[in-house]
Amino acid sequence: MAKFRPAVTAVNGYVPEDKLTNSDLEKIVDTNDEWIRSRTGIEERRILKTPGKAASDLGAEAVKGLLKKRGIGPEEVDLLICATATPDHLFPATANIISDKCGIKNAWSFDLMAACSGFIYALTTAAQFIETGKHKKVVVVGADKMSSIVDYTDRATCIIFGDGAGAVLLEADEEGNGIIDSVLHSDGMGREFLHQKAGGSMKPASIQTVENREHFVYQEGRTVFKFAVSNMADAGAEIMERNGLKSEDIAWLVPHQANLRIIDATARRMGLDDSKVMINIHKYGNTTNGTIPLCLWEWENQLKKGDNIVLAAFGGGFTWGAVYLKWAYNTN
Ligand code: UT7
Repeated sequence: MAKFRPAVTAVNGYVPEDKLTNSDLEKIVDTNDEWIRSRTGIEERRILKTPGKAASDLGAEAVKGLLKKRGIGPEEVDLLICATATPDHLFPATANIISDKCGIKNAWSFDLMAACSGFIYALTTAAQFIETGKHKKVVVVGADKMSSIVDYTDRATCIIFGDGAGAVLLEADEEGNGIIDSVLHSDGMGREFLHQKAGGSMKPASIQTVENREHFVYQEGRTVFKFAVSNMADAGAEIMERNGLKSEDIAWLVPHQANLRIIDATARRMGLDDSKVMINIHKYGNTTNGTIPLCLWEWENQLKKGDNIVLAAFGGGFTWGAVYLKWAYNTN
């Protein structure tokens, strides 16, 4: 079967306008700006406040802008995959809703859930459809309205998360640029350390679950931190080794933005200095599936055709991994 190299040919991001700063949080919970900055690197996050608006609205804004940037119509999209941990509903898929909101009618679409690693899982999944020649244009969108599942009475988690979405278009590249390799892992033994306790089939919603605040993110931060530091760094090192990459070969590391200390540990393990690491956690916090495409969007103008880029993530599940790609276009 003919092989086609799946490449990112456009990227776009969207964050809501309203900001939630560290000083705003100081008024809600017992915390302070210094603690949040030094422990996480976060200064502010964006929050989708409009009533009735959901993850699909964030995702749809990102996708509409994506198609416009690439100059293609919604009818040209073959497949849309949405990575989200905060779907509009348990079903139908948020991907179906985003497609509807964007006028994408000739495609099939589905959600993929892998917590904070969802975007790299979805990218790897989407790439297969380009690689085999089955599809020509596949959209991958990471969209999360984390504020809908954050407990703003829990100071250990409410300081971390923000809302946002990012999307990429995958098409075949004829020059050999694009997604070259990925290493993905999961280990369900980690599920108890980061999850939403109720609202699924194990513990359906009840008055009791609501009273117990079990519909919010539950995280044992210190344990998750420990696994995130070692596994995200390991995944970065693993993909370098598999592809014979040295630190000087890598133009950019695009890490999931969960905690600046986890990002620093990953960069150190890969031998990369700060100038090669995309970091915007101070502005957006952890937008879960939005972090990696939001970085690519913000750095797009600095990316050059042929740049070696490594994406790396760690999240609930546990799930983690890394993707190695060669950037396929110059913006200017
Ligand atoms: O993206 C998906 C994966 N998620 C992650 O990668 C997140 C990983 N975890 C983390 O980023 C960090 O564990 C947190 C940022 C969540 C917490 O930072 P930490 O350095 O691990 O703090 P800790 O939980 O060990 O708590 C240290 C102290 C505790 O006080 P005591 O027991 O030492 O007196 C906490 O009660 O800090 C306290 N604390 C706070 N103090 C002020 C916890 N949250 C806050 C807060 N403000 N917001």
